[in-house]
Amino acid sequence: MMKKTGIIGTGSYLPEKIMTNFDIEKFLDTSDEWIYTRTGIKQRRIAADGQATSDLCKVACENAMSAAGVKPDDIDLIVLATITPDTHCPAGSNWLEAKLGCNKAVSFDVTAACSGFIFALHVADKMIKSGANKMALVVAGEIMSRVVNWKERESCILWGDGAGAAVVTETTQGAEILSTHIHTDGANGDTLLMPGGGSKTTPISYESVDKGLHYLKMIEANKSFKVAVSRFAEACEEAVAANNYGIHDVDVIIPHQANLRILQGMAKKLKVPDEKVYMTIEKYGNISSATVPIALDEAVKDGTIKKGSLVLLTAFGGGLTWGSSLIRW
Ligand code: UT7
Repeated sequence: MMKKTGIIGTGSYLPEKIMTNFDIEKFLDTSDEWIYTRTGIKQRRIAADGQATSDLCKVACENAMSAAGVKPDDIDLIVLATITPDTHCPAGSNWLEAKLGCNKAVSFDVTAACSGFIFALHVADKMIKSGANKMALVVAGEIMSRVVNWKERESCILWGDGAGAAVVTETTQGAEILSTHIHTDGANGDTLLMPGGGSKTTPISYESVDKGLHYLKMIEANKSFKVAVSRFAEACEEAVAANNYGIHDVDVIIPHQANLRILQGMAKKLKVPDEKVYMTIEKYGNISSATVPIALDEAVKDGTIKKGSLVLLTAFGGGLTWGSSLIRW
């Protein structure tokens, strides 16, 4: 019989520093009005100098372990979703493992941009269901403020920093993970990318830095806007169909917080009321992979997700990547 897996605790961490749209107005040709009407964002959090992605993730993981009532030694797997690891070698997850004191765990990173948490959840879920591991920390953390070009008004206004985590284990007690689905389209990945900093531009040169190749780029962002709406909706439909539900059986949709208008477009396509779609974008912006677990943690804490709720996670991002997970809380 296939093992049952579940989420037994969630946690998150947002850096203290708040950057509002009005703060951005002071150094960029933009306005609170433009940013809010085009994206739904009012403010975002910014990591402190000296804070690395693993520091944000450490607090999120400790909060998730505390909610689950487990200790670092109980964890035998850490899967970290990030596109902003502390370093590329060692992996961000290796630094995190050491900081958490999870001495019995194996750790590795998953790179799937904004869909990262769902990809990491998919991997951990399958590893636990196969019997290879017993208890996992599935975590996503990003310091986007260090990889965006603060002179590029088309994209820098979108992003923020933070981390979220979940403890996943074999259980018949916790919130049951009914399914995970993940997808990629590498042929169309050149619209959301960090062109520099990898083997293509090694060694990093003055020229590559002068050209800003190490920054996150969005090419024809309005084209990915339309793709995002379709992929979000498809991923939701796939999750409910795989479990013999209809979309109206879902109590709460926790989407990646890409853009308020994208999420409204998704709701319209799915014919669900906007109220079913949980939003954190106004206060945190887009934190790439971390938006889903942060929103999940907040929805658990504020009572939006109740025992028995049917919860649908969905995401779309660079790669291109997209996916979903259906959970009976
Ligand atoms: O998380 C992964 C998934 N996320 C995505 O795929 C992002 C999807 N795309 C988006 O969220 C939106 O396309 C953006 C928020 C990035 C941009 O919104 P938009 O409604 O598509 O605007 P636009 O790029 O078509 O630009 C409209 C106008 C342009 O001016 P003109 O050419 O009409 O005169 C831009 O130059 O707005 C201008 N503009 C700005 N104005 C003030 C662009 N950025 C800004 C800005 N402030 N920050």
